[in-house]
Amino acid sequence: MLQGKCVVLGVTGGIAAYKAAELLRLLVKAGAEVHVIMTSSAQEFVAPLTFQTLSGNPVHTELFNIIQEQEIGHISLADRADLLLVAPATANLIGKVANGIADDLLTTTLMATKAKVLFAPAMNSNMWENPLYRKNQETLEAHGYHFIAPAYGELACGWQGQGKLPDPQDIFLAVQALFGKQDLAGKTFLVTAGPTREEIDPVRFLSNYSSGKMGYAIAVAASNRGARVVLVSGPVNLPEPHGVETIQVASAMEMHQAVMAEAEHADIIIKAAAVADFRPTTRGEQKIKKGSSETMMVELQRNPDILAELGENKGSRILIGFAAETEELLNNAREKLTKKNLDMIVANDVTQEGAGFDGDTNIVRFLSADGSVEELPEMSKARVAETLLDRASALLPKA
Ligand code: CTP
Repeated sequence: MLQGKCVVLGVTGGIAAYKAAELLRLLVKAGAEVHVIMTSSAQEFVAPLTFQTLSGNPVHTELFNIIQEQEIGHISLADRADLLLVAPATANLIGKVANGIADDLLTTTLMATKAKVLFAPAMNSNMWENPLYRKNQETLEAHGYHFIAPAYGELACGWQGQGKLPDPQDIFLAVQALFGKQDLAGKTFLVTAGPTREEIDPVRFLSNYSSGKMGYAIAVAASNRGARVVLVSGPVNLPEPHGVETIQVASAMEMHQAVMAEAEHADIIIKAAAVADFRPTTRGEQKIKKGSSETMMVELQRNPDILAELGENKGSRILIGFAAETEELLNNAREKLTKKNLDMIVANDVTQEGAGFDGDTNIVRFLSADGSVEELPEMSKARVAETLLDRASALLPKA
């Protein structure tokens, strides 16, 4: 998809600038011709020679460099590009572009181009949440600029939060999506993600460790491939994905209601949510006091099995479930596949390193209704999502 495409990679001055080298390597490996523009502060973090060596092209650093201008000036870069990708993009760079400021080579090229532009912002989490920054991003999105959301994690400044440059592999996937196949256009996906919360009283609940990352990755990937996506999400710490209709719910009963209301419009339903099987039979109207008792009983009552209910009334829909297991992975997953009338189940052993709830990677197996089992190696959740969509779309009736 990237063979022969001209990508201008803008690198701005953030600690994540070094990760742009890996991104560049992926782009070159995929056959793109890459020209790098570095801002002057980017050069404080990484030497231009790194990018020059990896791209095989001179690195552009100054607006008025007479030799560079003659060979391939900023207007010519802006014209030749099929994509301008800025990674990492600082709040400063995004603020400048949103306000029409063109005072160096990168901002001037961004202003002059008619190519697609993708920003991969990376910054301190407070800056990311700052309403001034948010307004700038929204302005750019309204004008058709693309963004990939930063990841959560420990930031260079010591904070924990959203603001990390995503994994270069994930940025690369977002680039592919921009050029990529719109093979899911015209299809509607219903995806669930995250845990549910079952309230005991106004201040307490039962829940699980699901982070929602797998379901969100599926929703983003399907949307990038042209599908209409409805995401029913339990409480998670992730931004609502751009272009995806997100319905926020808390309890299994709320998720049940939202899913049932949307199900009939869906061609493919993927249930990545970790739904609580039980909820407290009664919910305390007020905070329950411990009193003098040494033990306490919370009686639980069964929640509806949303996926099983969908399976009973499947119609022509493709139904995909998840099985997070700690033992007997294949047997348990196969039993769920059959019992819930699924087309496919994604099985993962959540006790395995590199798999499971909170991480950015997963190790899964796809079990299909025809009895086949596909075992995937450890992959980023974004790549698991892409592979799952390939398999799911192959199950759709041929038009
Ligand atoms: N699921 C659901 N509604 C529930 C419970 C589970 O829709 N009340 C869905 C999940 O979204 C997942 C699949 O069923 O896609 C498997 O969930 P899991 O909890 O692993 O399996 P259970 O069927 O609940 O079996 P068990 O808890 O006994 O392992």
